Amino acid sequence: MRLAIYPGSFDPFTNGHLDIAKRSIHLFDHVIIAVLHNRAKKPLFSVEERVAMIKEIFSGDNRFSVETFSGLLVDFVREKKAQAIIRGLRAVSDFEFEIQVASMNAHLCPEAETVFLMASEDNLFVSSSIIKEIALLGGDISDKVPPVVWRELCRKRNT
Ligand code: PNS
Repeated sequence: MRLAIYPGSFDPFTNGHLDIAKRSIHLFDHVIIAVLHNRAKKPLFSVEERVAMIKEIFSGDNRFSVETFSGLLVDFVREKKAQAIIRGLRAVSDFEFEIQVASMNAHLCPEAETVFLMASEDNLFVSSSIIKEIALLGGDISDKVPPVVWRELCRKRNT
């Protein structure tokens, strides 16, 4: 079985992430969406909230599963016996960071390939941080996130 890990903070999951996940499933039999437990960052949504939202987005589609990981991504990749790591690339600004991470991951775990998918035109400038800023300041960004994420962003804004 061709298995890939799609890792990220996903705080929150956007239509950009959804687009990459849906396209990656054409290349793999199963994709694990892996939410990073990162104690250093101060997220808007807890890991549990993020996992619940992503599970709702993919409910009924058993080609995807949602898990969490902490520590090194390559350790999680090895534990799952995955063949690939999926990452989305938007503008040139992503490239420098992504190539560093991909080459370090290749150094640590040569058996796993990083597969980059280019963001589609509609999502070239969609980022979780901009989504959060606009939503919390009262902007309508509902067309850039899945409905469950928009519902939860509105809930955060009103609390
Ligand atoms: O959505 P993000 O925050 O851009 O995702 C970054 C992520 C989770 C892929 C990256 O931070 C990661 O893999 N972290 C786990 C720790 C690790 O393996 N670090 C070495 C490579 S940076």
